[in-house]
Amino acid sequence: MAKFVPVEPFDIVIFGGTGDLSRRKLLPALYHRWLDGQIPPTSKIIGTARSEMATEAYRKVAREACEAASGISWDAAEWAKFEKLIHYVMIDATRPDADWPSLKALLTLDAKRPRVFYLATSPHLYVDICRSIGLAGLAGEPARVVLEKPIGTDLESARAINDGVGEVFSERQVFRIDHYLGKETVQNLMVLRFANMLFEPLWSYNYIDHVQITVAENLGLEGRADYYDRSGALRDMVQNHLLQLLCLTAMEPPNDLGDDAIRTEKIKVLNALGPIAADQVKKQTVRGQYTSGLQDGKPAKGYLEELSSATGSTTETFVAVKSEVKNWRWAGVPFYLRTGKRMSARHSDIVIQFKPAPHNIFGQGVETVNRLVIRLQPDEAVRLFVQIKEPGPGGLRVKSLPLNLSYAESFMLRYPDAYERLLMDIVRGNLSLFMRRDEVEAAWRWVDGLIESWEASRYLPEPYPAGTDGPLSAAMMMDRDGRDWWKEA
Ligand code: BG6
Repeated sequence: MAKFVPVEPFDIVIFGGTGDLSRRKLLPALYHRWLDGQIPPTSKIIGTARSEMATEAYRKVAREACEAASGISWDAAEWAKFEKLIHYVMIDATRPDADWPSLKALLTLDAKRPRVFYLATSPHLYVDICRSIGLAGLAGEPARVVLEKPIGTDLESARAINDGVGEVFSERQVFRIDHYLGKETVQNLMVLRFANMLFEPLWSYNYIDHVQITVAENLGLEGRADYYDRSGALRDMVQNHLLQLLCLTAMEPPNDLGDDAIRTEKIKVLNALGPIAADQVKKQTVRGQYTSGLQDGKPAKGYLEELSSATGSTTETFVAVKSEVKNWRWAGVPFYLRTGKRMSARHSDIVIQFKPAPHNIFGQGVETVNRLVIRLQPDEAVRLFVQIKEPGPGGLRVKSLPLNLSYAESFMLRYPDAYERLLMDIVRGNLSLFMRRDEVEAAWRWVDGLIESWEASRYLPEPYPAGTDGPLSAAMMMDRDGRDWWKEA
């Protein structure tokens, strides 16, 4: 049985308390932590939004959200205890003259009690909300503010948000969430790399041929057309989740697990990413947009049909990039990144492909390549593919088979959602799994360069039918390098 160490009593104020993120992720995550005994009963969860609502009604919203969240076995007695922690305050948090006194009256303004302001709102409100929190006199220690991605839409807007938030909160009070860093399998990447001596001597250009990082989704827009059409796959997924996975795969061992040790190593990787020039962008990247197709045997609409105002949007729903980490360890090793909506299946994998044996004594057609496949989701596993002799006489047949470590088989636990871990880290004030200002800005710098190259070369998204693995060009990009996207047999 896993042991959960309770956190100190805390107050959390969720701005955007009735929104999608709160209902799908934040409230269920808090409830799970309650069920595991991690949240003390004197804590407070205060939802806020601009609409009028009684606390009773908000508790009902929260209950429906928690009941709907997958994996929760309903326990009415526990819910009755938990809902006492929940409150609601109507507030337009962007306005200093809003009803801050009612919110203040609910908070326990103790110098030691963690006070979390979770901004589950549109990023363009972040600065105004932070200013209002400051003017209400609530921003001093031990307050902390949580910013959801996306932080801006480019380097300039990210800087403006970071500057504005920084006028009110010190960097140590700012928790920039990338929920991928809260995933168990993503954290396991560090354990795999740094608690096993086996891999480290092999973990460089000496023995690694290339790395593939894929986050494939089978979902489409899911009611987020407005946001998504202004963003696209590069800003929505690559700028944050995929680059974070790349950093954890490529970074040097941090000195310890302290807040800044990991982040300092990650930023070195981001700064080493080679820019992609306009004359290379069609060779090193692929932009795609899904058209109608068949998904799991059912007809699926194309992106333009899913948009309510189908006016020829050129937003990409698929990106593949051949990137390079230009440093001593990784010189010449391509890192292929790929993500897309409405792909054939939902799966996220990091594939480390090792170089073939220098001299193949088994003859042509016999593979001597090893692969370490880290499946982040959905069926979490680590597989090391090794070559094995197929039993039996009559020739020497070689087969690639995995040493298979399946999480489900090894641990038989409920898988905590990423937000559960991250919320408890925020209460504890542990910043190591959150992005530092310079990290977010370094990621934007690289992404901005890529967008400029797309624009300069007028690279419009290539169509791919829903339910497939992206445009043909993505396969051709690999083919040109004599490689393939890894696919589970
Ligand atoms: C979010 C993106 O950050 O991550 C979504 O905005 C995407 O577009 C989601 O669907 C994927 O997260 P997960 O945890 O389902 O892989």
